Amino acid sequence: MEKRGRFIAFEGIDGSGKTTQIEYLMKKLQKLGVKCLETCEPTGLAAGRLLRSALTKQIKLDNRAIAALFVADRVDHLTNEENGLLKTLESGCSVVCDRYCFSSYAYNSVDTDMDWVINANSVCTKLLVPDCTVFLDVAPDTALMRIAQGREAAELFETKERLTLVRENYFKAFDIAGAGQRIEIFDGTLPPEQLADKIWTGISD
Ligand code: TYD
Repeated sequence: MEKRGRFIAFEGIDGSGKTTQIEYLMKKLQKLGVKCLETCEPTGLAAGRLLRSALTKQIKLDNRAIAALFVADRVDHLTNEENGLLKTLESGCSVVCDRYCFSSYAYNSVDTDMDWVINANSVCTKLLVPDCTVFLDVAPDTALMRIAQGREAAELFETKERLTLVRENYFKAFDIAGAGQRIEIFDGTLPPEQLADKIWTGISD
């Protein structure tokens, strides 16, 4: 039987550089011939599409409904019959995911109780916990500067106060919900190639 693939989740506030670092990692894995799927949350699946409409304020939804939709999207991402993550990992293919449960803990508990968010996501953590979570740490000011340079529509979460709370929530969540999990924290302001090397070493077995 195939050996189960590895599940690596990238986390960080908006503008922390996940996209760039995931690109470096995928290239390196491809070069080595490692079978690996790149994916993200929110997904492009049904609940994920609804979420993007809510985050860009095209539709108005209560924050608790948004938090619950993130859970629904994640369950679908894990279990859907076509290319669900559980099936993919089982087949021996590894997965690199841009955001997973810690994004819910950090973002959705800005407006809702963190314990509620953690409990709501337990349906997902019972199914799958990352073999390694990579957290890219940058100050909210740096993140906002990067966002301003690269993007047009600011999403619901991208104000300095919010990003500051989200960053604090990440560290709180690592304490409360990270016990027994492998969480590697990196300085997201390092030059991209240097950071990519550090991440590669950090996630190695
Ligand atoms: P993000 O991956 O940053 O989207 P983009 O492709 O636009 O860079 O995710 C969109 C937003 O969703 C981001 O601000 C974080 C938020 N989010 C939550 O609030 N809870 C979650 O569980 C997840 C996965 C994301």
